[in-house]
Amino acid sequence: MYYIDEDIKQNILAEAPETEPERQYYFIDECRKIVSSIEEEKGRKLTACINTFGCQMNAKDSEKLCGIMQRIGYVMTDTEDADFVLYNTCTVREHANVRVYGRLGVLKNSKDHNPDMIIALCGCMMQEPDVVAIVKKSYRHVNIIFGTHNIYKLSELLFLYFCEGKNQTEVLDGTSEIVENLPANRVYKFKSGVNIMYGCNNFCSYCIVPYVRGRERSRAQEDILNEVRQLAADGVVEVMLLGQNVNSYAYDFPDLLNKVANVPGIKRVRFMTSHPKDLSDELIRVIRDNPIICRHIHLPLQSGSSRVLKEMNRRYDKEGYLALADKIRKGIPDVAITTDIIVGFPGETEEDFQETLDVVRKVRFDSAFTFIYSKRTGTRAASMPDQVPKDIVDDRFNRLLALVTEIGKEQTDLYEGRTMDVLVEGINPKDPAYVTGRLSNNSVVHLKGDESLVGQIVNVRLDEAKGFYYIGTITDDVSLS
Ligand code: SAH
Ligand code: SF4
Ligand code: F3S
Repeated sequence: MYYIDEDIKQNILAEAPETEPERQYYFIDECRKIVSSIEEEKGRKLTACINTFGCQMNAKDSEKLCGIMQRIGYVMTDTEDADFVLYNTCTVREHANVRVYGRLGVLKNSKDHNPDMIIALCGCMMQEPDVVAIVKKSYRHVNIIFGTHNIYKLSELLFLYFCEGKNQTEVLDGTSEIVENLPANRVYKFKSGVNIMYGCNNFCSYCIVPYVRGRERSRAQEDILNEVRQLAADGVVEVMLLGQNVNSYAYDFPDLLNKVANVPGIKRVRFMTSHPKDLSDELIRVIRDNPIICRHIHLPLQSGSSRVLKEMNRRYDKEGYLALADKIRKGIPDVAITTDIIVGFPGETEEDFQETLDVVRKVRFDSAFTFIYSKRTGTRAASMPDQVPKDIVDDRFNRLLALVTEIGKEQTDLYEGRTMDVLVEGINPKDPAYVTGRLSNNSVVHLKGDESLVGQIVNVRLDEAKGFYYIGTITDDVSLS
């Protein structure tokens, strides 16, 4: 391990700018100097691996963290036998936490072989004080811990770790600050997520996100548009606007969506997630009228029972959801509606569950993520009586999965034989003679093709519907429309 003299460290700290992001650029430079001297000593480059456990917003954070690490001088790798390993964690369900603890155990072995290895944890799980206590006590090989509100401070924490050789922890309860304009490294050249807001104020009774991501903060329209213009200049053709509930974006979401879709060079715009309680008619109209906005609305149902929805604090009921889905289907031809559903919420009866199945049959979701309710400490639902026994939940989960799979397949069949635009995303990992892309409605399509198609929008005939994907063939020359 490389240590810096205490007085040199104090000098560096004393001269650090107070304002962000300047302060972080300063620490990135300081870290870079340290990293190059370690490289000299070892006679090789240092490597870093970042693993993301969570949602699109976590993935976006990882791109920022990766940008910082690269600027410090690390070479990114996919494998965990690296000099620096960072887990960007998720805690939405217990399973996510269990995975992190399991992997930390494995990392301990790697660190025994490479004692200079630095292990860092950040993200949603670190916002839970119990978790940090467990990590500090039982996983002492973790060197740096930070939360969701200070991801931009990675270089500052790394600098302190380099100087002191002591484990660093900084987790903030909340923030009103949005620090922008730090480096980022995108996973895809041609598509990118763009945060439009952070946090969540909805407090659905089962959900831990508002506790770990803090209160809602919307970015200014102009900041978002500047980022999108920059991305377009950099070759991005598809952007996904990200927020826990984009409909509560403070400065007019439909208007923002339109403006983003009109940025020159942008060919597709998506967004995630839209809460059913406040999806406006204006939003439906804007999507209908602008073909650049994708024909896909992710509209989490959670439950079809009005009674359960009330307990969940979702602020809509079964009838309201059905009416909204109907309005969307009528208003936007060819739209796909996808959803999230939880089974086994406390007190859920067979009758409640039947209501969920009823909504699935009526809305005919194009696809659905189904989850078994997971009790999250600190949420209101965690202290509700009548937690549903596991065998009953498992049985309901299987019945729900069978139904959503069957309906999803029938929905996919509807487009067999049609010719539609596909944005090609990459070489098919299973067969390099094929590439894989997506329709505007988010369905996956595999087609014959090579690397040169990646990032292009091509016209594809959907020859065969295969349940939840298609096999297709290109019918025209590359169309850039
Ligand atoms: N903001 C989004 C959801 C983000 S979390 C929305 O409200 O639509 C993604 C999904 O995880 C949720 O839609 C929900 O279905 C699921 N989820 C959240 N908390 C959960 C819990 N405690 N147990 C099981 N699933 C949960
Ligand atoms: Fe969780 Fe509800 Fe917020 Fe979505 S809207 S993140 S489910 S509290
Ligand atoms: Fe998980 Fe945090 Fe996203 S808890 S789902 S990574 S906001």
